[in-house]
Amino acid sequence: MSSTYFKSSAKRYNTIMEEKNKKNENLDDSFLDQTLRPTRWDEYIGQKHIKDNVKLLLRAAEERGHIPEHLLFYGPPGLGKTTIAHLIAHETGRQMKVTSGPAIEKVGDLASILTNLAPGDILFIDEIHRLNKMVEEILYPAMESGVLDIIIGKGPSARTIQLDLPPFTLIAATTRVALVSSPLRSRFSGGVFRMEFYSDEEIAEIVNRSSKLLETKLEEDGLKEIAKRSRFTPRTANYFLKRCRDYAQVNKMKLNKETVKGALAMLSIDELGLNNSDRRFLEVLIEKFKGGPVGLKTMSAALAEEEATLEEVVEPYLIQLGLLERTPRGRVATEKAYLHLSFAVPKNLQSKLL
Ligand code: ADE
Repeated sequence: MSSTYFKSSAKRYNTIMEEKNKKNENLDDSFLDQTLRPTRWDEYIGQKHIKDNVKLLLRAAEERGHIPEHLLFYGPPGLGKTTIAHLIAHETGRQMKVTSGPAIEKVGDLASILTNLAPGDILFIDEIHRLNKMVEEILYPAMESGVLDIIIGKGPSARTIQLDLPPFTLIAATTRVALVSSPLRSRFSGGVFRMEFYSDEEIAEIVNRSSKLLETKLEEDGLKEIAKRSRFTPRTANYFLKRCRDYAQVNKMKLNKETVKGALAMLSIDELGLNNSDRRFLEVLIEKFKGGPVGLKTMSAALAEEEATLEEVVEPYLIQLGLLERTPRGRVATEKAYLHLSFAVPKNLQSKLL
C-alpha cells in the first residue's frame, strides 16, 4: 500500500461516505475510528520513548535485511496499542494478520494462523494474557526458532515433528502485563513497552488532528475542554469529539466550550472527566468504607463490577488524577477525592497536607 494512500483521510472518508450513502448503508463509529488512526510516525502523537526505540529497532532490522523482532505493548485500554501495531505494519510495508488471545482456543487454531503467514508478515495478538497454556507453549518455539512443534500420537509412542514456519514478527498487546507469564514475556526480544497516559497537550493535538480529518470546526476553548476531560486517553478524546460534533450539529451550535459542556453533561462526564462508574467507585469507597483501605475483591462485590474492569479501566485514571491510592493494605480515597465529590474531608487526610 502506498504511503500516500492515507494522506488525505478526510477525502477518503468523504468518498467512501458518498459511496455508502448511495447504497443507503450506515457508516458506523468503528469505521470513523479507522479514519482517525495515524498510519505514519509523524502523525503519531506522544509516547516518544516508545516511538524512538521502535523506530530505531525497525531501521536497524531493515538495514541488516532482517525482519523486526517480536514486540509487546502494554498499558490501559485506549492508549494506542493496536494503533501502533497497524502503524508499524504500514511503515514497514508489511501485511498484518490480526487476532486475539481468546480467539485462539486450540493449538490447531494457532498452527493454522502461523502456517498461513507469508514471509515477513506481522501477526498481531491482542489481549495476549488470555492465551491458554497449551497454545502458549506452541508459541515459544515459533517465536524463538521459527518452528512449529507438532505432537503426533499419545503416550509413550508420541513423537514430535517440527515444521519450519515463514519468518514473522509477533506484535502483542495486553492491558494486564502481570498476567503474561515470564517465559512468554522474555521471548519478546524486540522489547516490552509500557504505554503511558498522554498529557493534556498531546491529547489536544490528537483532538485537533481528528477534528481536521472529520472536517469539523472546533474552537480553541472547545478543544481544551475535550482534552481536559478525556482521561489522558486518545480513544476517549476521539469518542468525545464525535459526540460533541453530533450535539453541535443537531442543536445547530458552534463547537465551542459551552457546546462541549452540554454534550458531555448528557454523557454524565464531569469536569475532571469522571463518568458514573468512576464516581460510584469513589462514593462507595468513601461512604461504605470510610475512604479505605479496602481490598479490590471487596470493592468488586460492593459495586457488582468485575475486578478486572476496576483494575484496568476505573482505577488507573483515578490514580493518575490523584483521587485514589493503591496501598499494600488496599485502596484509599485521597483528600482530592473527598473535595471533588463534596464530602467533608476526614481529619487524618487534612493533616497530611499541612
Ligand atoms: N489516535 C490514537 N492514538 C494516537 C496518537 N498517539 N496520535 C495520534 N492519533 C492517535
